[in-house]
Amino acid sequence: MRVLLTGGAGYIGSHTALCLLEAGYDVVALDNLSNSCPEALRRVEELTGKKAPLIVGDCTDEATLENVFSQYKIDAVIHFAGLKAVGESVAKPLEYYQNNLDATMMLCRVMKKHGCEALVFSSSATVYGTYPEMPLREDCPTGCTNPYGWTKWISERILTDIAHADPTRSFVLLRYFNPIGAHESGRIGEDPSGIPNNLMPYVCQVASGKLKQLSVFGDDYPTKDGTGERDYIHVMDLAEGHLAAIRYAASHKGVEVFNLGTGEAYSVLNLVHAFEKANGLTIPYRITERRPGDIPVCYADPKKAAEKLGWTAKRDLTTMCRDAWNWQKNNPLGYNVK
Ligand code: NAD
Ligand code: WQD
Repeated sequence: MRVLLTGGAGYIGSHTALCLLEAGYDVVALDNLSNSCPEALRRVEELTGKKAPLIVGDCTDEATLENVFSQYKIDAVIHFAGLKAVGESVAKPLEYYQNNLDATMMLCRVMKKHGCEALVFSSSATVYGTYPEMPLREDCPTGCTNPYGWTKWISERILTDIAHADPTRSFVLLRYFNPIGAHESGRIGEDPSGIPNNLMPYVCQVASGKLKQLSVFGDDYPTKDGTGERDYIHVMDLAEGHLAAIRYAASHKGVEVFNLGTGEAYSVLNLVHAFEKANGLTIPYRITERRPGDIPVCYADPKKAAEKLGWTAKRDLTTMCRDAWNWQKNNPLGYNVK
């Protein structure tokens, strides 16, 4: 079975490519390299001994997709391709709506033309917006607070409507919580451009001395220690979740949405201290103002994925911290070929 990974050179795509290749799938990646580089997939090949061909091109472009589907017999698609920076989406909403929505719709159109019905979509816990009751279940109310989030919400809506109108389709919508960490080899990992927005890459760059200290955004939230709590999930657990989703899509019609999270909430300070302990390092930090738009707590109810996909996250916070640092210390400049 051959799986097309749009955005396959990116952070989650490259880890999923590795997982799929190891499980015996053929993999083809399509990526415009707007936030990644081919080196990630070269290293996936080095680790697995198997090649995932990379087509450099844009998922919003019909001719590019036509070429991919004509060149390869694609049995299923995992659609990672998208722009993902929340702050940037507020500054450049049109770019986000155009890229993320056009890509999703063009993909659906070309898949249908080529008789490819199975699609796994990268959604996000951000679609739960500010809904306050935890843990978040798939049937909780949704609604977003920024254009990036709305692109996920609207993509979910579009895919749901398409699946309802066409009973031959098999769509699986995955709502990721907070993916962190890296493959245990330290050869592939997260390679943000510029100063990281997200907590773990920021902590890693403080640990490496690239950044001076961490700003902890607020310690007056109604949480255990006053700092924000999130459901951090190891990127390899997440990658394995995609394997389960592909298997599910191959044997079920219709559309289904799943949380991919651990069900555990850790605070910013929990993560900082776990990182220090796991790696024998000190992370200098100071408490600053809350970051606008942040919610106090966010964690998943992961039961539906356990029951229907047969998948649960296995790796603990210590492993996430160890693997994140292993990647950072071995690759202080990331892939360094952007
Ligand atoms: P990433 O930026 O590392 O990967 C996305 C990839 O898509 C990049 O390689 C980029 O070059 C490519 N891309 C973007 N637009 C494209 C287009 N039009 N055509 C072809 N390629 C294109 O991000 P990631 O962290 O691996 O995220 C993968 C997906 O998961 C994204 O859709 C993201 O929104 C979603 N997601 C990520 C997180 C997270 O915290 N990392 C959380 C929830 C959801
Ligand atoms: C985690 C916690 C911060 C940085 C974002 C997107 C979301 C999803 C995942 C794609 C919060 C605190 C952070 C720092 C800090 N992406 N923090 N200092 O905001 O939960 O989710 O990434 O779908 O849509 O919004 O993740 O890693 O930015 O923050 O104190 O320098 O760490 O306040 O409590 P977030 P994050």
